[in-house]
Amino acid sequence: VKLAGSNLERTFLAVKPDGVQRGLVGEIIRRYEAKGFTLVGLKLMQVSRELAEQHYDVHKERPFFSGLVDFITSGAVVAMVWEGDGVVASARKIIGATNPLTSEPGTIRGDYGVSIGRNLIHGSDAPETAQREISLWFKDEELVNWQPSVISWLY
Ligand code: TYD
Repeated sequence: VKLAGSNLERTFLAVKPDGVQRGLVGEIIRRYEAKGFTLVGLKLMQVSRELAEQHYDVHKERPFFSGLVDFITSGAVVAMVWEGDGVVASARKIIGATNPLTSEPGTIRGDYGVSIGRNLIHGSDAPETAQREISLWFKDEELVNWQPSVISWLY
């Protein structure tokens, strides 16, 4: 039996400006809460060009890069850190494939998105990326170390 806490990870998620404008912040947070993950960091931000460019640094040579940076900096973004067993891969599964037209129904992008350039939410793609993104977006003191007060084997 795999107990809660045996593969404890943190991941970085961000509701992009389209998700905030469409009023999907609550719905998105609800899905991760209901799944059983723990919210340890949360803030509403106007993202600077510098932060957006650093965040998407791996894509800087891609043709969509400047449009992506324009979009991420165009409105309010909700930045979050979630904790839980296997949360990095699981959060990506809940998000769905990059292109919302091919994301499965039941995923966030599959249920609410249409356009790859307006795909509602970002999620770290691996534990190492998550660590990099968490430290890029959050100061240590902005993260809260807490555990839900349930019996340790209940997840
Ligand atoms: P990527 O990291 O490949 O996807 P994901 O967000 O699923 O991890 O790409 C980052 C973002 O760049 C993606 O969410 C939307 C945008 N993008 C485009 O606009 N056009 C594209 O062809 C690709 C691949 C991504």
